[in-house]
Amino acid sequence: MFGRGAVWSVLKRGKEACPIHKLRGTTPLPFSSSTHQSYKSLTPYFHAFRSHLIPKGQHVAHMRKFSKMVSAGAEKKEGLKLMVSGGYHAQKVVGIWLFGSAAWVFSMVMLGGLTRLTRSGLSMTDWKFTGTLPPLSDDQWLQEFDKYKQSPEYKRVNRGMKIEEFKFIYWMEYAHRMWGRALGIMFALPYSYFLHKGYITLRLGLRLSALFALGAGQGLIGWWMVKSGLEEPPSEYSQPRVSPYRLAAHLTSAFVIYCGLFSTALSVVMPEPPAESLTWVRGAAKVRRLALPISLLVALTAVSGAFVAGNDAGHAFNTFPKMGDTWIPEDIFEMKPLIRNFFENTSTVQLDHRILAAATLISVGILWWSTRKLDIHPAVRSVIGGTVGMAALQVTLGISTLLSYVPVSLGTAHQAGALTLLTFMLLLNHTVRKPSLSLLKSLPQVVKAH
Ligand code: HEM
Repeated sequence: MFGRGAVWSVLKRGKEACPIHKLRGTTPLPFSSSTHQSYKSLTPYFHAFRSHLIPKGQHVAHMRKFSKMVSAGAEKKEGLKLMVSGGYHAQKVVGIWLFGSAAWVFSMVMLGGLTRLTRSGLSMTDWKFTGTLPPLSDDQWLQEFDKYKQSPEYKRVNRGMKIEEFKFIYWMEYAHRMWGRALGIMFALPYSYFLHKGYITLRLGLRLSALFALGAGQGLIGWWMVKSGLEEPPSEYSQPRVSPYRLAAHLTSAFVIYCGLFSTALSVVMPEPPAESLTWVRGAAKVRRLALPISLLVALTAVSGAFVAGNDAGHAFNTFPKMGDTWIPEDIFEMKPLIRNFFENTSTVQLDHRILAAATLISVGILWWSTRKLDIHPAVRSVIGGTVGMAALQVTLGISTLLSYVPVSLGTAHQAGALTLLTFMLLLNHTVRKPSLSLLKSLPQVVKAH
């Protein structure tokens, strides 16, 4: 966006400019008096979160004003690149559409989890990109059931299943597939409309097209995953199950699409981070240094969770904190080559997930501890608090899921928890990012107390 040097020189100049103001808690004049005039009028609008500058109960109205101000004179603001053109209205409708699409992907992930946990995912034995109608007559149901009877899952796990039971698993899988196609339409139609209206900037257009392509690819990955579960298992004793690699690819890609949509929506509606003083900008920079690596750790923990699910590792070692009678199972490096253990060995996969989850909880705790005395925007502090709470809840859900042999309810809640924790990390990274140079220039050293 703009050079690191420029940002730091503004921060430094602000600091050096007026130490007396710092002591008194009043606004300094690091720049020309005309800049001072402009920031005096604009400062209350340059944050989308509540701080003590905003009177209680006026938060929503304030956010609207903020968005309007930012979009109004955006072209003149140095270093600020808006994602939409067309002013405040465009920003609002595009934002609603993107948050709505992200929520839809969230529900897709939940439905996918339910489909897997109810063992419904292998009920439909063929796939068409455009989708098909469900069976509409008894004959058609019998035909579908006959096709399922040829699958290894029916022969080895569900032999003797009644047609009513088959209908349930079929509907689960059908709903998951059709919900995904409906999302494609609900995404593409408003997208073409907004393009036509000229709201979408080139930057946003490229990003959204990439996400749309990923969404279309997600359907293909889904079928590629299901196909692996329709093949005969390698040994006559093993149960048919989809490839853990393909399941992890499908889940990870869903997470990437969700995170991409959510963070783009945030950039659309909140082009500037909440920043009301240079001191708070400096505080945010310190939080940012920790927030980014922790986000990567959360993402890695989530991917390792996908391997736990893919290997059915939640049904082994249903004890905590020990795994059975030991802390570390003996067979963790049993497979050759060694690397396979991290993706296919039930014991290793579960141990990894436990270690990564513990590391996530500890690092989120460290983030909270090391920033508790830092002078930061109240919104950033709230997001850190929320992240700590969510990480603790997610670990609790994970342990409960394991101890109760992965019931559908807890398994689904644990999956939703992972996405919610990722959402907190996105929000945190967004609120502590660098402000534009023009906002930076307009900021006082410290926020005036009323
Ligand atoms: C920050 C912490 C954690 C995160 C982000 C996380 C994330 C995930 C994710 C994304 C999945 C895949 C969900 C699915 O597809 O169903 C998963 C599965 C699982 N996790 Fe965690 N997890 C965390 C902590 C834990 C802990 C502490 C435990 C228990 C010791 C645990 C046990 C499990 C189990 C048993 C599964 C498999 C559930 C299934 O088969 O559906 N998780 N985790």
